[in-house]
Amino acid sequence: MEKNIVLIGFMGTGKTAVGTRLAQRMGREFVDTDKEIERITGMTIRDIFYKTGETRFRSEESLVVKRLADRTKLVIATGGGAVINQENLELLKKNGVLVCLEAEPEDILRRVSKKRNTRPLLKKNVNVNDIRQMLQEREEYYRQADIHVETSGLEPDEIVKRILQKLNEGKHGLLKG
Ligand code: S3P
Repeated sequence: MEKNIVLIGFMGTGKTAVGTRLAQRMGREFVDTDKEIERITGMTIRDIFYKTGETRFRSEESLVVKRLADRTKLVIATGGGAVINQENLELLKKNGVLVCLEAEPEDILRRVSKKRNTRPLLKKNVNVNDIRQMLQEREEYYRQADIHVETSGLEPDEIVKRILQKLNEGKHGLLKG
């Protein structure tokens, strides 16, 4: 069995950009949980949050996680909150190697400020301390990843290279079920 590669980590750490390239390099199918949710519900993430609320979003997200966790050989980019739920995290771990993309709060703030509108959890004047606090609250989940990759100051292609290096460090045998 070839395990999925599951990118986890905070908003703005580059999961989608990195996941797309990683899938290309590995000749695998790429799936983004947020895009799946939008496809299935026919609504944007923003509208799901504003019109139906976060609880509904999280339940759609858990459904998508359940479905994808049963498959193999995928590269999956998750929404930043998808693994802030131990059940989702364990489902994804069963058939997958969890790769956590990390970044300094200042970098995250810079990256999310550009697309804040599409991220309903970030208030209008979000600051670096808000990001720090959310990161702290989520730490206990993110730290359960198999691999951690620091992304600050790196382009997506370099991040892909580092992920592949870690996956190929044979001693882990990470990709085999
Ligand atoms: C969320 C992250 C978002 C999206 C939703 C909630 C979170 O995805 O799923 O806005 O709770 O961190 P990205 O991490 O791709 O921004």
